[in-house]
Amino acid sequence: RAELDRYSPGGKLPSSRALVERYRVSPVTVTRALAQLAAEGLVVTRPGAGAFRAEPRTATPAAGDTSWQEVALSADTATELVPRAVDASGVLVTLSAPPPGTIEFNGGYLHPSLQPERALSAALARAGRRPGAWGRPPVDGLPELREWFAREIGGSVTAAGVLVTAGGQSAITTALRALAPPGTPVLVESPTYPGMLAVARAAGLRPVPVPVDAGGVRPELLEAAFRATGARVLVCQPLFQNPTGAVLGPERRREVVRIARAAGAFVVEDDFARLLVHEDAPPLPAPLAAEDPDGVVVHVRS
Ligand SMILES: Cc1ncc(COP(=O)(O)O)c(C=O)c1O
Repeated sequence: RAELDRYSPGGKLPSSRALVERYRVSPVTVTRALAQLAAEGLVVTRPGAGAFRAEPRTATPAAGDTSWQEVALSADTATELVPRAVDASGVLVTLSAPPPGTIEFNGGYLHPSLQPERALSAALARAGRRPGAWGRPPVDGLPELREWFAREIGGSVTAAGVLVTAGGQSAITTALRALAPPGTPVLVESPTYPGMLAVARAAGLRPVPVPVDAGGVRPELLEAAFRATGARVLVCQPLFQNPTGAVLGPERRREVVRIARAAGAFVVEDDFARLLVHEDAPPLPAPLAAEDPDGVVVHVRS
């Protein structure tokens, strides 16, 4: 900790070897200390580049009033009215292997010849040597990773509010199952991507479409959909909506959260494409979750 004061924010720390020599401790101790400081958000480590003093976090906005969630999560009576219908066929199609000879364009896996296999193997080997790598990990995710996500999302999000899952699709499933009982409606953008509909149906939910135009989901129709269905969840992709590519405009961002809040509903923000942006794109809008003191938004990343 004292060592950190010698560097300005963003400044590079000495190499692990130099720290070993300076403090006369073992490399394992230095690695542990850096991991601890990274978990506390004081140090950022970049594989291959070294460790840096973290930029100070901008003041965390005060948390708002989340007590509305208690009403939203217990007031649902629709399960008694609507029979539960679980349809897992969409999920099974998503998971099945393609027929031989098919080249898939819908997944995120590169062809083996395009993968940086040596770099990936080296990174994996390095990760396997880290102290504690083979211990039982915490079920809600490594503290350093949760801290990293909290910083990335911004606003009043802290590591305690972050859960690490096996990907975006898994996170949407977890969120939907936690927020909406089987048989209830869930508002989805129309069009949306099939994986979203598949997990909603597999959770016994009824997807209700809300149209999207070039500026994202249409607020007046969203308001009407909440009124007509009594839904307590909207799944929304504010950034590069799949399949339209629409980005939710600044005015609509506020509208969507306000309308959901007024309906006593949650917004599952599927921010799947944030890290896929082109290098020369203008700055991206912040996640909806960064401007949400009252806990309306559940932010999902791939
Ligand atoms: C809009 C959208 N959300 C979520 C996902 C799922 O992402 P992951 O591969 O992290 O499960 C995808 C995948 O294509 C997607 O298109």
